Amino acid sequence: MAIKPVRKAVLPVAGFGTRVLPATKSIPKEMMPVFDRPAIDHVVREALEAGIEHIVFVTGRNKGAIEDYFDSAYELEDSLSKRAGKEAILEEVRATSLPAGSTSFTRQQSAKGLGHAVLCAKDIIGDEPFAVLLPDVLVQGEESCLKQMMGHYNEVGGNIIAVDEVPMERVHKYGVIKPAAGADASSQLIKMDAMVEKPPREEAPSNLKITGRYILQPEIFALLETQGAGAGNEIQLTDSMERLMAEQDFYATRFQGHDFDCGDKMLYLQATAGYALADKENGAKAREILEELLKRYS
Ligand code: G1P
Repeated sequence: MAIKPVRKAVLPVAGFGTRVLPATKSIPKEMMPVFDRPAIDHVVREALEAGIEHIVFVTGRNKGAIEDYFDSAYELEDSLSKRAGKEAILEEVRATSLPAGSTSFTRQQSAKGLGHAVLCAKDIIGDEPFAVLLPDVLVQGEESCLKQMMGHYNEVGGNIIAVDEVPMERVHKYGVIKPAAGADASSQLIKMDAMVEKPPREEAPSNLKITGRYILQPEIFALLETQGAGAGNEIQLTDSMERLMAEQDFYATRFQGHDFDCGDKMLYLQATAGYALADKENGAKAREILEELLKRYS
């Protein structure tokens, strides 16, 4: 069967950001800056680098700032264009507005879990494979994580999930995959035959956690529609993927790069420092600043 291209990506952005309060009292957590841009912009860039043409934001109440960010900002651009020396920043601002018609915004009206959020994009995705990128996770590397997954997808088709090793004492915080019998769990592309959401350590089938990047076939939607609540009493994407595995192939990509979980304030700090240090232009200066701070507070 021909492998259908992945053109659309779903970004679930309806979550409250309670772990980052009060910073997120009046701005969406996805708009928190990670070094030089909002976290969500890093994720959108990752999707675009992988060839995604249309982004579906699954939003909720008080998330309007995200829509504005990816729109053009006429007054701002006009004002910058009239000021000398602002050409570079004007270009950067312009680059954040996504082409007309390449975004959709739909709402998840109640917080029923990740599986439910993805289901909210069903009509916009239609009958084609699609990507899901969780904006709580940023992945830094030479080549974007989703692009690496696309490379594998174009070879094997089916469903692909990014995974990364995690210490066994933290497996209960993630979805965890089980490599298929005979699969080489150290290779970059691993066939899998089971997955489980937030297992207790003694029941985890491996130390390979699901990292928040997925390429899925549209048959997932019918399963999400009938999916009962799972871990945390939420409709879990992992549970529907586990059911889809009875009919379709699932592979895991062990991506090259580092993932930053932006779930709480210390993790934001880590991500910001990581992105600043990795920045070609500003990395050396960032190191100087951080070393200076370490000296001051040691
Ligand atoms: C979600 C997924 C989980 C995955 C994690 C990655 O969990 O359900 O499988 O491992 O993202 O960050 P959450 O962090 O939303 O509880």
